[in-house]
Amino acid sequence: MTPANRRIALAARPRGLPVPSDFALVAEPVPVPGAGQFLVAHEVLGLAPAARLRMSDEAGSYAAPLQIGDTVYGQAVGRVVASRHPDFREGEWVMTMAGGWQDYSVTDGTKVWKIDPALAPPAVWLGALGVSGMTAWIGLREIGRPRAGETVVVSAASGAVGSCAAQFAQAWECRVIGIAGGTDKCRYAVDSLGLAACVDYRAPDFAEQLRAACPQGVDVYFENVGGAVRETVWPLLNQGGRVVVCGLISEYNRQGAPEPGPAWSDVLAKRLCVQGFILSDRVHRQAEFVAEAGELYRRGRLRFREDASFGLEQAPAAFIAMLQGRNLGKSVVHLTEPRKT
Ligand SMILES: NC(=O)c1ccc[n+]([C@@H]2O[C@H](COP(=O)([O-])OP(=O)(O)OC[C@H]3O[C@@H](n4cnc5c(N)ncnc54)[C@H](OP(=O)(O)O)[C@@H]3O)[C@@H](O)[C@H]2O)c1
Repeated sequence: MTPANRRIALAARPRGLPVPSDFALVAEPVPVPGAGQFLVAHEVLGLAPAARLRMSDEAGSYAAPLQIGDTVYGQAVGRVVASRHPDFREGEWVMTMAGGWQDYSVTDGTKVWKIDPALAPPAVWLGALGVSGMTAWIGLREIGRPRAGETVVVSAASGAVGSCAAQFAQAWECRVIGIAGGTDKCRYAVDSLGLAACVDYRAPDFAEQLRAACPQGVDVYFENVGGAVRETVWPLLNQGGRVVVCGLISEYNRQGAPEPGPAWSDVLAKRLCVQGFILSDRVHRQAEFVAEAGELYRRGRLRFREDASFGLEQAPAAFIAMLQGRNLGKSVVHLTEPRKT
């Protein structure tokens, strides 16, 4: 029997939080690579909040909108199973940034990284050594530029990007304070990741707790969330503070006008640097990133936790759960049995 490529397609544009009927499971013939292309059999998918941005067709998003019927955007790790590309051979392991929620993808190698499964299991190449880790690394290296002894605050600190940002800043000898939703996530950030403190933004005294955790103010804020969390961090920023605008997940399900921004007078008076960035513009630094992050991972100083689902059909539910903060660690979907290495 000819193998099928099962994929999750966008069936409707979500209004607010996505619902299961916004997605459809479709089966089609496995695509055939053309000249200069290769076919990847996916083993693990990485769920990305940016997929929610691509489900909307509002102007102003950095991500091109999906059309109805398109495969949902996301990263995948898998093996090359057929190749007409000179640089990728059958059997090699790769991470493809835009593989999508499906069993197979065809690519010309753009934004595809070869990975070393001997260094870390496939799912790690979606998280700490993949897009999440590299996003954290680029944001801090290029924008945050934390110095030893500075205070770095990271929102969504137990999540895929946030946990890496926090651990890089710690490795660079900063004092790192996390912000996360709920006591379990905060406990994980302190007990397992070793943060100096982690504050629950849902606590009624969140602002007081955060101020107490940052007695020297905040030198670098790694922004994953936006909205009310940003408003609480903002007054604590020090002179010369840097705000790394990585993501604004609290606004991704928004319907209507964007939230009002913070005070420009503070940017002027405190000489703040506020800068956004998109990882896909910076992928040429991947080898440099893997050299540093791989070494930290090998030494146990860059920990990875996955929030795993099993089976392609589980991807929509896992994605909806992530947007609601019900994940702890990188949300991944295993399409095959997880490997033990
Ligand atoms: N700039 C780039 O190139 C780039 C690349 C990758 C990711 N990102 C961004 O990085 C951020 C984190 O992504 P990720 O993949 O690492 O996801 P993640 O942090 O593993 O999962 C998303 C987390 O966001 C938090 N969250 C959701 N809704 C929230 C709300 N209304 N208020 C506060 N927190 C909320 C939840 O954690 P809590 O329970 O702690 O709230 C949830 O667990 C996202 O904003 C994403 O868009 C940017």
